[in-house]
Amino acid sequence: MRIVGARLEHADSHTLERFLATGGNNALRKALLEMTPEAVAAEVLTANLLGRGGAGFEAGRKWGMLRKAKRRYLVVNGDESEPATFKDHLLVERDPHQLVEGATIAAYAIGASLAVIYLRGEFALGLERVQEAINDAYRIGALGRDIFGSGFSVDIVLQPGAGAYICGEETALLESLEGNRGFPRIKPPYFPAVIGLYGDPTIVNNVETVSNLPWIVENGGEAFKSLGSGRSTGTRLFALSGQVNRPGVYEVEMTKITFRDLIFGEEFGQGLAPSRSLTAFIPGGASSPWFFPEHLDLPLGQDEVAKAGSMLGSGSVIVMDDSSCPVRSAWRIARFFARESCGQCTPCREGGTWIDRIMERIERGNGREEDLDLLLDLCDNISPGVVWPPAQTTICVLGPSIPPAISAAISRFRDDFLLHIKEGRCPHA
Ligand SMILES: Cc1cc2nc3c(=O)[nH]c(=O)nc-3n(C[C@H](O)[C@H](O)[C@H](O)COP(=O)(O)O)c2cc1C
Ligand code: SF4
Repeated sequence: MRIVGARLEHADSHTLERFLATGGNNALRKALLEMTPEAVAAEVLTANLLGRGGAGFEAGRKWGMLRKAKRRYLVVNGDESEPATFKDHLLVERDPHQLVEGATIAAYAIGASLAVIYLRGEFALGLERVQEAINDAYRIGALGRDIFGSGFSVDIVLQPGAGAYICGEETALLESLEGNRGFPRIKPPYFPAVIGLYGDPTIVNNVETVSNLPWIVENGGEAFKSLGSGRSTGTRLFALSGQVNRPGVYEVEMTKITFRDLIFGEEFGQGLAPSRSLTAFIPGGASSPWFFPEHLDLPLGQDEVAKAGSMLGSGSVIVMDDSSCPVRSAWRIARFFARESCGQCTPCREGGTWIDRIMERIERGNGREEDLDLLLDLCDNISPGVVWPPAQTTICVLGPSIPPAISAAISRFRDDFLLHIKEGRCPHA
């Protein structure tokens, strides 16, 4: 079952010709010419489309929280800078017109007069193609004034990011759009739907979330909801990476396959290298708690994964086999977050840096046994109790993204840590 990836079987999926030949803009015409904005929003609510950017909040419910105001904005989040997350990358490069169509539908449904697509600055080809898709849409009357004679007008602006991971956090992104340093804003009380870009109500939605909208409008919210099960409806893109034979981005119906299918299945990851065994995998991006072989039979569903103590997050699954060093892997993740901390909150800024340094000394063979307790204490200071979902002492959840990898590695691979300390070197090197 393909929704957002339906066009990707064509080598020229990014062109206007292929887009129009495969039903492109049919949904936009239907929405603008046959439906009211409220009717479009109602279909999205029925679909129970969960946001695909990480938090998994229902798009329809978020739209319903938008404050009434003269000016409203839509911001499409394509910052995608978390290590091993690369599914939006595929969509912006391979089906940019679908994204523009989805953004225009969303703008119509929420009454936005301006939409911004904020793309990771390193996506050079993606930026080129999305800009071309925007230009094409203006040229054929699918964007701008009085779209398709419907009386609805909206502009879309493409904004490249400047390379800070924190600017993917929605309020930091808004700061960045306003020309400020990418500092997350304190929320609650004011979420972007109440006070967003330039102080006006703003909806921030992920690239994949928005790319689902044309299908939902064309086929109806009920059809989307009939795919998957429970709260996990429709399909999702999973970016599979790490020590797996066939890494890549796979679109699957939610809850219908398990992690075992994704990692070992013939049409997906095709397993590990010969004579290697799986030691751990990360189910939802670098910030999510690790899973182990006993979790392989869990279905790819939001609630199923949450109940087992982790999250589907940004849809990236990272596989580790017995040749990889768990200390190094956890250190690598902690270092990323420590370096990307914006520095506003002491636990994240200082705690992340300490953890990075301690993990480095253990990995390099200079660790001490008491470092393990020190690491856990630091984790507890950033995110009290080191539980999932995380408790927070910080403005945003970048801080609490640091402890999961450290606590998982220590609790599951304690002997490995001790071996590093005892032997004064990495036993995997
Ligand atoms: C540190 C951090 C980085 C984030 N990076 C992204 C990102 O690159 N793309 C994204 O869509 N959401 C990202 N998010 C989540 C956004 O804040 C927001 O929840 C999301 O864009 C909302 O879209 P959705 O409801 O469609 O998922 C990030 C959150 C945090 C805390
Ligand atoms: S948690 Fe870290 S990244 Fe988030 S606002 Fe605080 S210092 Fe900045």
